[in-house]
Amino acid sequence: MKALFAAACFAFLLLNATGVESLRCRCDGDGDGDSDDTDKPSYDKLFVFGDSFADAGNLPKGDLKWETRGWYEPSGMSDADHDNKPTGRSSDGLVQSDFLGTQDYPGAEGGPSAGEAEAARRRGPVSSGVNFASSGSGVFPGWNLDKQVNKFKRLLRKRIIGKDLSQSVALVSIASGADYADVPSDLLDMDPLYISNVTDGIVGGVRKLEDLGVGAVLVNLLPPLGCAPLNTRADNYTRCEKDKITGVHNKNLMHKLRDDDSLFYHRHTPCCESIDENGFCGQVDGEGNLQYTLCDRPYKYFYWDSTNPTQAGWKAIMQQLEGPIRVYLGI
Ligand SMILES: *[C@@H]1O[C@H](CO)[C@@H](O)[C@H](O)[C@H]1NC(C)=O
Ligand SMILES: *[C@@H]1O[C@H](CO)[C@@H](O)[C@H](O)[C@H]1NC(C)=O
Repeated sequence: MKALFAAACFAFLLLNATGVESLRCRCDGDGDGDSDDTDKPSYDKLFVFGDSFADAGNLPKGDLKWETRGWYEPSGMSDADHDNKPTGRSSDGLVQSDFLGTQDYPGAEGGPSAGEAEAARRRGPVSSGVNFASSGSGVFPGWNLDKQVNKFKRLLRKRIIGKDLSQSVALVSIASGADYADVPSDLLDMDPLYISNVTDGIVGGVRKLEDLGVGAVLVNLLPPLGCAPLNTRADNYTRCEKDKITGVHNKNLMHKLRDDDSLFYHRHTPCCESIDENGFCGQVDGEGNLQYTLCDRPYKYFYWDSTNPTQAGWKAIMQQLEGPIRVYLGI
């Protein structure tokens, strides 16, 4: 479980470095951080909430329009897994939840959709997870986060989802910007109170999932709205528009979600810090006094000392690289 969290955390943090997205991990932490040597993650279910970034076919097919375009060609044209046909995904192929769902996870495609889970209930509780995401939704518009989380609660109550969620992971992907697209305003003129209401809604959803016992929650940040083709078209896609929404949204979100439970909460500070700027981790003076300070929970730190990653940091990096390395080596 920790291995997977670490990998996921780093991926999202990596992306975060380029301002794309980030995540919050709440790891139950038995203290050892990552002593789990097995390659298989031990988390057992993935629950997906959000918008078109994660919708793998939940929004019903309707007449051809903006929201339903994932059900019409040329959507799906690169999706060899689905006969290169549209499947309701807003992409030429797979979407974010697919990658979380299929890479490390046996229940492909982020598990059955909420409707399928209900239909299948006679076969017993879902074993892999459920995808609740719906294109065009956000905190406010569409089949929104609140409705999705309530649906999750109903499936829990009906025992379609088993109640032990400690090994479960939730992805909250409210990141396509539907909340901002639906409001008549521009990128430089959005009421900060409204942005605050949107991020409060995301945080509220995350807290509900945590209160229901979900073991870890991944949260997408908003990718830069000013760089979306929608907003760069007027300039022939040559440059990003100035945008005052994304920065405020993401700052709010990180501020409101940050707490000591986040894995790699300490992204930049080292676990083992020399007292003297020119000293080193492990240094002892003539009287045997330690010339460094040591953190309590190294697995919360990416850096071990002033230059090197912790074991958890390395594990995260190497798991990110595992796929590319395998491809490169042809194994
Ligand atoms: C934000 O939410 C509050 C409380 O629900 C509401 O009263 C207020 O009008 C909202 N503000 C904006 C700008 O959306
Ligand atoms: C975009 O490209 C078109 C055609 O090449 C050109 O006429 C127009 O001036 C360009 N617009 C901008 C804003 O660069």
